[in-house]
Amino acid sequence: MTDDAGGIGVAPRVGMSVSEVGPLVGSGQTGASWGTASVLVKRNSAEHPNVVANEFIANRLAMLMAVPVPAGDVWTGPDGEDLWICGVIRRGNYYLPPPTPAQLHLIPGIMRARMIVFDTWILNSDRHDENVMCDSSGDAWLIDHDQALFARATEDRSGKLYAARRQKVHGSVIEREAMPSSEHLKQAIAGLQAVPRAAVVGQLEEARRRNLVTGLERDRLRRTLSYRADNIRSLVQVPKDDPREEAGRAPQDPAEEGRLT
Ligand SMILES: Nc1ncnc2c1ncn2[C@@H]1O[C@H](COP(=O)(O)OP(=O)(O)OP(=O)(O)O)[C@@H](O)[C@H]1O
Ligand SMILES: [Mg+2]
Repeated sequence: MTDDAGGIGVAPRVGMSVSEVGPLVGSGQTGASWGTASVLVKRNSAEHPNVVANEFIANRLAMLMAVPVPAGDVWTGPDGEDLWICGVIRRGNYYLPPPTPAQLHLIPGIMRARMIVFDTWILNSDRHDENVMCDSSGDAWLIDHDQALFARATEDRSGKLYAARRQKVHGSVIEREAMPSSEHLKQAIAGLQAVPRAAVVGQLEEARRRNLVTGLERDRLRRTLSYRADNIRSLVQVPKDDPREEAGRAPQDPAEEGRLT
């Protein structure tokens, strides 16, 4: 599929590996069958206390931008622990190795741009090659968002996130090895800014409903994500061939202006 037309209406790639489609269930009219898919399980630890919240929220925000990520959800394990469960991406029995620069170039430019804008939006500085899965046809998925959003903060995690709202994000393997054109970056920026705020708020509220964040944390996440979306042009590194109209402009903080309080 080519999505060089831009916009955010691109169907995500299949975000799981189905190992078995079993017997029919129900009336059979739709061919409904039991099936089996493989999942990867991640959990919070002392060193990584926010894995489940970071993964859940990043996954839902990625979907709002049509950035492909594995299908995922929070599941309560037998001992009551919240776990992050996501579909395994592989081709048959083969896991996808970290992509080479040439493979990264197979990912359509608008998708690479969207991935960069997404990582910038959620403050993810951990986009090394092992956290991008890419097949030989240019289908790609982003995995591992534990270092985004709250990252590894143990106390006042939403306060720290809000304090970092102006921070730029560096070191993405996509920026380093397969930088998209400024035109694609502009389209991806427009795509982020077209994501309805109500949809973002709805996902944050879902995280609160699942007790992954408190009400205060939900509100600070909303303000931080709003600020970064509003100022994304000054946060994303655009190639030099693009004279940025907004260069030098001090970022506006809608929260500080009272619009989001
Ligand atoms: N959905 C997935 N499908 C296939 N493989 C996956 C998936 N998620 C993770 N992996 C594999 O497991 C590895 C570790 O997963 P992940 O990066 O999420 O955890 P991590 O503990 O934060 O790892 P690291 O610290 O090495 O980045 C990945 O580099 C990848 O090889
Ligand atoms: Mg990783």
